[in-house]
Amino acid sequence: MAEPTAENWRRTDEFLADTLVGQDAALDAALSAQREAGLPDIEVAPVSGKLLNLVARMSGARRVLEIGTLGGYSTIWLARAVGEGGAVISIEAEPVNAAVARRSIDAAGVGDRVAIRIGRATDVLPTLEGSDPFDLVFIDADKESNTVYLDWAARLSRPGGVVILDNIGRDGEIMNSDARDPRVTGARDGLRMLGEDPRFDATALQTVGVKGWDGAAIALIV
Ligand code: DHB
Ligand code: MG
Repeated sequence: MAEPTAENWRRTDEFLADTLVGQDAALDAALSAQREAGLPDIEVAPVSGKLLNLVARMSGARRVLEIGTLGGYSTIWLARAVGEGGAVISIEAEPVNAAVARRSIDAAGVGDRVAIRIGRATDVLPTLEGSDPFDLVFIDADKESNTVYLDWAARLSRPGGVVILDNIGRDGEIMNSDARDPRVTGARDGLRMLGEDPRFDATALQTVGVKGWDGAAIALIV
């Protein structure tokens, strides 16, 4: 039996992506554009991007909110899921990231369904109050604000909506009670909120592979 080394996890993840996700010119171009622009390569793994797409389709999501656009990789997966007439609103704090994402999303042919809102999410989210409720919210931004974003996700979603919170594993550091890294404490605070706040019914999946050891939480708005 193969050893469960990081290298074997990575190779297995690549096999899963090759077998189940396959090559995708628009997504590959988005990643190249992101890399060329010097953005960090912290987008979701291909298998996780496809998971976002499938969960959105399985739940019939037509209106999606993304917090943290980066270079638009996950945005394209979500925009494909909502279909024609659907909408993705994606919030990005960095104008440079938003410009890279805009070009890639347009090149992917889903630009008409994606609105990128440039600004800090804590400033942009209150402006969405009163708009139609969201069917799915994907939170993938500064981890120290996870509980603030989860609160907004609950307020802006319809009952039965889905919330997905990225990066809940952080190389296992969430178990380390001495951890002071705000990305780790933010992940843990988000998980605690998902466990305790009655507006959510949640679980989490650890992931390991091309993006290392991490994971995502998924919640139903009840
Ligand atoms: C980081 C952020 C992410 O959203 C991610 O998927 C991986 C890493 C980070 O800030 O380190
Ligand atoms: Mg992430």
